[in-house]
Amino acid sequence: MNKKIGITEVVLRDGNQSLLSTRLKLEDIIPIASSLDDVGYSSIESWGGAIFDSCVRYLNEDPWERLRAIKAAMPKTKQQMLLRGQNLVGYKHYSDEIVAKFIEKSAHNGVDIFRIFDALNDIRNIKHSVEIVKKNNRHAQGTIAYTISPVHTIDTWIDLAKQIEDLDCDSLCIKDMSGILSPEYAFNLISKLKDNISIPIHLHTHATTGMSNLANMRAVDAGVDNIDTSISSMSMGYGHSATETMIYLLNEKGVDLDINLADILKISEYFKKVREKYSEFEGSMKGVDLQMLINQVPGGMLSNLETQLKQLGKEELLEEVVSEIYEVRKDLGFVPLVTPASQIIGAQALSNILNKKYDTLSVEIIDLVLGYYGKLPGEADPILLEKALKNKKRITDRPADFLKEEFKTFQINLKEYCNKMKINDVSQIDENVLTFILIPYGSEQIFKKLAS
Ligand code: CO
Repeated sequence: MNKKIGITEVVLRDGNQSLLSTRLKLEDIIPIASSLDDVGYSSIESWGGAIFDSCVRYLNEDPWERLRAIKAAMPKTKQQMLLRGQNLVGYKHYSDEIVAKFIEKSAHNGVDIFRIFDALNDIRNIKHSVEIVKKNNRHAQGTIAYTISPVHTIDTWIDLAKQIEDLDCDSLCIKDMSGILSPEYAFNLISKLKDNISIPIHLHTHATTGMSNLANMRAVDAGVDNIDTSISSMSMGYGHSATETMIYLLNEKGVDLDINLADILKISEYFKKVREKYSEFEGSMKGVDLQMLINQVPGGMLSNLETQLKQLGKEELLEEVVSEIYEVRKDLGFVPLVTPASQIIGAQALSNILNKKYDTLSVEIIDLVLGYYGKLPGEADPILLEKALKNKKRITDRPADFLKEEFKTFQINLKEYCNKMKINDVSQIDENVLTFILIPYGSEQIFKKLAS
């Protein structure tokens, strides 16, 4: 096999997020960065997703400083981020102005490749991000958030992929956040995609159900151009196929990878020790969990749910909440369980179990069912819809069309906030304003730090 396959190393972002609840500190990344840089990865996913939030809320790290430090420590390798389209790295829609500013600053501080998805697979929610990434001369990767449901067929994905190619994306990603993409489906899907689009295809799958190695290999058989892996000591479980395993399998197929294995072994040893340090943040799942094929609950979501229930002293409700997640998802036209929809559905499922079903609706679930996040893949449940309509009207236009420009307002608010906190004014730096916009609560520590 002569075709070249790219490997994206995800240990710093998704491996960290799936296995260590995104708690990996910058100080544990920097010592291994130059080794990671030497491997020859097509890219390293190091930013975006839950990283931004975790930096501010839990790690007391400036997420922008983290990005700059990572970029500087790995000058040879393209840095990749996961961007939730119009939701950026937050949980709601932001105006086009804020999206543009955020992407411009992300590119400026070190992001080379933007993997852009929308939880509802509503192309209107990724279009603006793609345009801005292209305007900043960076790689725009459009994404299919893969799910299985009665309303999602192979034609759904082909249609979406064609729309992504038409947006002038540089590549396409199939994002299987729950690890439910079976090897044969992967083969069929990628073969059909190859017949229909000509941009490179990346596969991102999780090991949760135990199918990821096979799914990746069948994807390779079908002509996939790039796969995502995580260093072996930070792989499998809720995470991803191990980098070394996939390299071994690809080498056996005769794929030339230009990868330095000696570097990889060193990295694996390093993360073995690092992982021990963060053991308190690991979920309890061992081995493989087939529940995912039935309920499609992604790894990150399940470990968060476990932690939440533990805090409430209600661990025994886990199974019940997991089945309720399926029910709520069905009532929302089979929305893929990915951020922010996964959090919204998870919280509502929890509330449905702790209280009466749909007795209390969160603001977010009302917005989701009424179109404020975009078009639902299928039909909403009439009872849920009726309850939601008591709060506000339904919309069918692109959600961000309703949002006003407000960067300047936030800048003024941040200035006032600094005044109130009696710290130096940090509002003149756009990155700080973006942090303030994205994490309005819990950013107190970080602004104190930035002001000192
Ligand atoms: Co993932």
